[in-house]
Amino acid sequence: MTYFRKDFPILEKEIYGRRLVYLDNAATTQKPKSVIDKISDLYRDDYSNIHRGVHYLSEASSEKYEAARKKVSDFIGARNPDEVTFTAGTTDSINQVARSLEPSLKGNEVLVTSVEHHSNIVPWQMAGAKLRAIQMDEDCNLLPESMEITKDTKLVAISHASNVLGSLNEVKEITKIASEHDVPVLVDAAQSVQHLPLDIKDINCDFLAFSGHKMYASTGVGVLYTSKRFSDIMPAKGGGGMVDKVTLEKTTYAEPPLRFEAGTPDIAGAISIGAAIDYMKGIGMKNIKKHEHDIYSYAKERLLEKDNITIYGNTPQMCGAISFNLNGIHQYDAGMILDKMGVAVRTGHHCAQPLMNSLGIEGTVRASFALYNTKEDVEMLIEGIEKVEMMYR
Ligand code: ALA
Repeated sequence: MTYFRKDFPILEKEIYGRRLVYLDNAATTQKPKSVIDKISDLYRDDYSNIHRGVHYLSEASSEKYEAARKKVSDFIGARNPDEVTFTAGTTDSINQVARSLEPSLKGNEVLVTSVEHHSNIVPWQMAGAKLRAIQMDEDCNLLPESMEITKDTKLVAISHASNVLGSLNEVKEITKIASEHDVPVLVDAAQSVQHLPLDIKDINCDFLAFSGHKMYASTGVGVLYTSKRFSDIMPAKGGGGMVDKVTLEKTTYAEPPLRFEAGTPDIAGAISIGAAIDYMKGIGMKNIKKHEHDIYSYAKERLLEKDNITIYGNTPQMCGAISFNLNGIHQYDAGMILDKMGVAVRTGHHCAQPLMNSLGIEGTVRASFALYNTKEDVEMLIEGIEKVEMMYR
């Protein structure tokens, strides 16, 4: 796995004269050459608007766009590509569901967890719902058996993996209990779909959201999976392409997926997701999972050798990120020094203020991994941390 680094042109860069160690993958991943090439090939060879023209270029673009939809559908194990909609990213996907379900959410309740990103909190509040957190133990293991569903519970919305801790939630347990009460479940897979094999039939949720830019594809594009039983919900956005018939009195809507794709979509972005899936499948999701597990375990082992460190979260399966504080050293100071050593990490609350409140901290240093990271990257992180400690202790 170590040689995948060479597929990513940006990783050849030196930062402050040092090898770039990119450990901010939960914020966004770098792009392999094959994805970059697919985007420029489209603009060079086949670009036009999709689903709108009978001319050659429009058909060529439409074909590539629909092929990308099919790739996403196969990648997540959807029963039908019509259940896959391209959006502007995870945040947009979740906001669209919030808009569509708003009438039932208003004045009612959405169950979340205390590790959620703000994008899985704020949209529900904006739709008029109250939030209640499913309980977790002190290691941030979700306790599905404690989940209490009442007559006011209209949705369960949980992340598959925490963007801060890298903890993996038992979503299957949650969807099982929720379905017994006929309550739909939305899974935010922004931090899992690039790290492990995911099968929607196994998870059995109604909505699944993720972003292109965190899975080696473009920014500004993402996916919303909507199960067939919600195919007739009110679309969140109106405009061209999503209609059946329009008169000045009334509009009827198209069937999914077009129903949920008003206006010209990010055509190149969607195609880049298809290319990123091809790239990941070429390596194999099981291989990616195993490699990243090895890197994560090595990083944890090395960090635990330190005396003055606190690592947050400890679930049986961890995925993508490790969050910590060097006791007595502000996370921003640590992040700044690591940067000067060529090591890119994220610091702060990571758009998860409720989690920071429950941990009683302001923020963390987060190292997050992708398929191109190596043990050497971990060594450089540890070397950087030693430098931080030398300067502050
Ligand atoms: N949600 C992204 C992160 O966790 C931006 O860094």
